[in-house]
Amino acid sequence: MTPYYITTPIYYVNDRPHIGHAYTSLAADVLARWKRMQGRDVFFLTGTDEHGQKVEKAAQDAGEEPQAFVDRVSTSFRELAVAMGFSEHTFIRTTEPRHYAACQALWLKLRDAGEIYKGEYAGWYAVRDEAFYGPDELVERDGQKFAPSGAPVEWVSEPSWFFRLSAWQDRLLALFDANPEMIAPPSRRNEVMAFVRAGLQDLSISRASFRWGVPVPDDDQHVMYVWIDALTNYITALGYPDTENPDWRYWPADVHMVGKDILRFHAIYWPAMLMAAGLAPPRRVFAHGWWTNEGQKISKSLGNVIDPLALVADFGLDPVRYFLLREVPFGQDGDFSRRSLTHRLNGELADVLGNLANRTLSLIQRNCGGLLPDGPVAAEDAAILDALPGLPEAMDGFLDRQEFHLALEDVFRHIRAANGYITVAAPWSLKKTDFGRMEAVLRHLHTALRTYATVLMPFMPTSMDQLLAQLGVPEEARNLAGLATPLPAGTLLPPPSPLFQKVELPA
Ligand code: MSP
Repeated sequence: MTPYYITTPIYYVNDRPHIGHAYTSLAADVLARWKRMQGRDVFFLTGTDEHGQKVEKAAQDAGEEPQAFVDRVSTSFRELAVAMGFSEHTFIRTTEPRHYAACQALWLKLRDAGEIYKGEYAGWYAVRDEAFYGPDELVERDGQKFAPSGAPVEWVSEPSWFFRLSAWQDRLLALFDANPEMIAPPSRRNEVMAFVRAGLQDLSISRASFRWGVPVPDDDQHVMYVWIDALTNYITALGYPDTENPDWRYWPADVHMVGKDILRFHAIYWPAMLMAAGLAPPRRVFAHGWWTNEGQKISKSLGNVIDPLALVADFGLDPVRYFLLREVPFGQDGDFSRRSLTHRLNGELADVLGNLANRTLSLIQRNCGGLLPDGPVAAEDAAILDALPGLPEAMDGFLDRQEFHLALEDVFRHIRAANGYITVAAPWSLKKTDFGRMEAVLRHLHTALRTYATVLMPFMPTSMDQLLAQLGVPEEARNLAGLATPLPAGTLLPPPSPLFQKVELPA
């Protein structure tokens, strides 16, 4: 079994989880579930980023000691994972002792290799982004300078350790050239390459003006720059520096799933540091877009932060999971509205998928005593049935490219075709005229529904499991391998119940 390593960013604990966090992790969860269903040996990592000035300040504002504060807020991210139905994962926290050990080991490795040196930093820093900016990147309003993200920057001048990033420019470009799939989507890859081509400066990797971070080895005045500490989490979790640890087999990561705002860290700084330490860079970094809320940028100050738990309470978990990955081409920005979520739930999940399942399963219940019928394949059945074996492979292609929206669009194209098929074949009117043909049509619809439900499992695990149960598929066969073994005719199906509850359109 080839290992598959998928990660989410580790989330800052300065705030409660919101839709952005849920989104990045959801995409990673779907990949983890899909690969596991294919029989891959999956390591799925998420966690919390607990150091840095931003978190320290949030703790101060809350009137708490940093450690007590991060312990408390970190819990809400674990709760999010449960509420969003994220599958088996490892949850890492950067305040764990094993993480200090990994960061310090990596630091010493870089220091011994001559890749870092001590100097003096003077430049612009945005605490909100925990990022340094060049003067040419800033705009000025009313005497205050701002980063491209809108975060205010402050002038920082202090002694600092540096990573010789400038020396990695050519080797990074060579890496990107040799691995055209490494940074995705392509538009983001172009941005990253242009940034690297424009020239890289050495990176300040320690701070001396506050204490909330991983101590720099042999220099008690400094803590590590929070991003150096944060990125290292991806190897801490696999046991670094102990490369004999059995989990080390998962490195390099197959996909680092990130938002577009943190691509530079993952696609430039991180691969350069890894290579400088003699480690393999990640295979792929995918940067997704950002959600706005009803057309507006989401921000705490606007008070329009979307709470994923509230959405799940109002619409149900699977409709929220479906919506987030269906509504917007993955990689692009998108706009959230309750109205569009309602349309997707009512118009696609309930009317297209729910309706097909309901029509098929109630007819089997009513006309066949709940026993799975069987029958020969006629010419009119070919279009639906012949398309089924190719579906898992098509899904795999979409998911390897992180085209979640296309994967869902594709399955739903098949489900719509099956709805067309049931309407034309009209099994409800065959009961009296051609019972055998009715049985055959229901059997084929059952076969099709089983395939749709199976490939949709990673997206909507609860309702698709429920659908497979209603289709009489035993638990251990509710996966891709199970599709190879058709259910025997005569299998008793439980009475069906609706999979999706429609909701009222918001006013
Ligand atoms: N701690 C860093 C990551 C370190 S990884 C080594 C961090 N944390 S974060 O909590 O600010 O955000 C993490 C993720 O949430 C990012 O992938 C970001 O893109 C995502 N989102 C935050 N707001 C978002 C939207 N409005 N829309 C979509 N995703 C957004 O960055």
